[in-house]
Parts: sequence; C-alpha cells; structure tokens
Amino acid sequence: MRKIQPLKYQSGFGNTFSSEALRGALPVGQNSPQRTPKGLYAEVLSGTAFTAPRAENQSTWLYKLRPSAMQPPFKRMDNGLLRSGPFDEEAASPNRLRWNPLPLPQKPADFIAGLATLAGSGDPAAQSGIAVHIYRANRSMTDRVFANADGEMMFVPQQGSLRLATELGALDVAPGQIAVVPRGMKFKLGLPGGPVRGYLCENYAAPFRLPELGPIGAQGLAQKRDFLAPVAAFEDKGGRHELVVKFLGNLWATELGASPLDVVAWHGNYVPYRYDLARFMAINTVSFDHCDPSIFTVLTSPSGQPGVANCDFVIFPPRWMVAEHTFRPPWFHRNVMSELMGLVRGVYDAKAEGFLPGGVSIHNCMSAHGPDAATWDKASHGELNPHKQEDTLAFMWESRYVFRPTSFALATKERQQDYDNVWNGFRKSGSE
Ligand SMILES: [Fe+2]
Repeated sequence: MRKIQPLKYQSGFGNTFSSEALRGALPVGQNSPQRTPKGLYAEVLSGTAFTAPRAENQSTWLYKLRPSAMQPPFKRMDNGLLRSGPFDEEAASPNRLRWNPLPLPQKPADFIAGLATLAGSGDPAAQSGIAVHIYRANRSMTDRVFANADGEMMFVPQQGSLRLATELGALDVAPGQIAVVPRGMKFKLGLPGGPVRGYLCENYAAPFRLPELGPIGAQGLAQKRDFLAPVAAFEDKGGRHELVVKFLGNLWATELGASPLDVVAWHGNYVPYRYDLARFMAINTVSFDHCDPSIFTVLTSPSGQPGVANCDFVIFPPRWMVAEHTFRPPWFHRNVMSELMGLVRGVYDAKAEGFLPGGVSIHNCMSAHGPDAATWDKASHGELNPHKQEDTLAFMWESRYVFRPTSFALATKERQQDYDNVWNGFRKSGSE
C-alpha cells in the first residue's frame, strides 16, 4: 500500500506546475499520447470554461491509476447541518448578528459530519454567491473522500492543524494559514494534531485570485511566491472507499473499490494551495485617518462588475498603529457591501469584548456598526503613541450579496441574543 507522503511544495500563484510522484510518469511534449508512460489514465480537470480568457483559464491534466468515470451511481445522503443557496429558510433581516464559537462535536465526527452552515448568499446553480460554514471534526477521513461541484473551498483554521490530502498532493495547514481546494477536486481531511475547528468559505462564483495592486505597485499585500501548491503524491490503496460529492446543495455518496486519490503525475494551473497569513505585507496610513479596509485584501473573487466583489477575503493582522490625531479603531459605518467576520486569535480592535476566537459576526448591507462604547471611549481619549497591535488575527469575507442566516444559525444557543447592546451607552455628543 502506498500512502500520501507529505510534504514538499511548489511556490507561486497562477503558475502552471508539473509534478510526478514516480519518475517518468508525466508525458513530455503532449497531454494525451496513445499510450501514456506507465499506462496511466489521462484525465483533464477543467476549472473554468474551455474558452475563458487565457489569464483566467484553469485546468490540470491528471495521470491516474484508474479513471474517475469508473464509479457506480451516487445516492443521496443526509445533509446534516450543511445548507446551500438559495438561502431561503429564514427572512434576511437588517439586524446585526454575532455568535460565540460553536462547540467541538461530542460524538465521533469527520469533516463532512461536523459541517454546520451559518449563512450564505446566491445560488450554486447560478454560480454566484458564497456559503459560510463552520467545520468541526475529531476524526480523520480515512476511506472517505469529498469533492464539491458547487464551489471552491477556502479553509481558515482556527483550532488544530489540517492535513488536506488532495488529488494533486498534500497540504498541511495550521491556524494562521489558509488553504483553498478548487471546485471538483477530491480530497480527504486528516487531523494530525487532534480535534479541529475553523471557518470555511464555499465560493460558488469565480475562483479567488490576487487583487490588482494599482498605485501600490508590484510590491505589497500577498505576494505570488508565498502561495504553495503540493507536489504529486498518491495512494495505491484498494478496499472500500466512499466518495461523497456536494452537488447543487445536496450530498451524494457512492462506493469505490479503491482510493480515488490515485493521481501519479499532473501538470496544470488548477491547483489547491496554502498561504501563510504572516507573509501578508500590511499597508496602512503613516500620517492620519484610515485607508479603506480593502487595503487588507488577500484574495478576491470578482462578480463580473469591476471592483464589486462576489467575495473579498480581507485580514486584520498584527501591525503598527501610528496615525496621528486620528480615531484609530474602525469607524462607525454603514456599507453597501455585506460583512462577515471571524477571529482566528487574540482580540479585534473594534470591540472590547464579546467577539471571541472561533466566533462570527455579520453586519449586512447598510447595517450600522462600529466600535463599542468602551473602545470608542478609550480610542477617543488615549495618547496616540505608535503602538503595535500584536495579539490579533481577524478576517472578513465581504460580499456584494447579503448574508442570509440559516435556521440553525438563528436558533443555536451560541448566537448572542443581546448583541445590539454592544452599542448601548453612548452619551449624546457634547454632554460629557
Ligand atoms: Fe464593518
């Protein structure tokens, strides 16, 4: 039995990579020769339409022990707490929402069993919008493999490390890092260090890409070379395997006679990747006032309207605060874009308490929000010395589409029913 052995990486974003786990397995000079080296099955995985513009076109050639097509019919399985667009269980409200971290599962649960959907927008059938799930697991997937036809998946681990064994090879991902698995790519999720919890963005629309840099120039924010793709690794492992596929919102399962993670060699630019958020070069004011938070965009999924994202992935990492005569925390605001935030570790600078690592907040389109009274008071009257905000890693998925909460999200006891009270206690201006 051959097992996936991590872990070497190839660096770059959007590159066309080549990798072979056995020397000589990758055809040279053509993609589908009449007979491939070692008799492997050539199969192409297309992540974009064939005729997508060259700069956006993504596909990867796989050289496999068995063709993926050799599979019995799928049968429906229970969706558990997994939900999908259209998110019409509940009326979307203008209310601000916040949750404490969801508890780890009490019963044995792998990645699929432990998924719970908090909110989402759009519809996988329309290839538009996103879903936000919390993953929680205390068991590795061993003979069970998952693939998502509805969208790519961005993992933001909050507790515990993941080993993502994908068709193209393995990625180890720890809190402080993120990983993206492309739409349709098979993988299983292992837990090398015990139970895990984290945030998962399922992106129904265009794949995440690096934002344009405009006047920033070539340096800054996330750099291409810090994105890591795996090298080829495969399982030659017989015996019963379950393949679970998410398709138009539902889970479907079929049984295979061997591991489908049997890609011996591959080449292409449709790849899973990992990124360490500590590599992000944060840019901000060195004089006064605020840049818009878009200055912290790591990756963006465009919507088709320039500058108006299906989803921006934005982080608030450790950084220096140096602005003079400025209210330094995030200001009071109302935003046409909808904001869903999470906290990997530490404290977020707009809230004195209540926003916990593993928790989530949603401030939808035009919902008024900003600092709580304690934060406002401290920031309005404190000395403005240069200050390094050390223990923090918050992030936001920001979308042009309203986040619609699921019934589970509204009913769970982890929802903070008193969240609005955060903004109580502001005195009428001039009354102090
Ligand atoms: Fe906001």
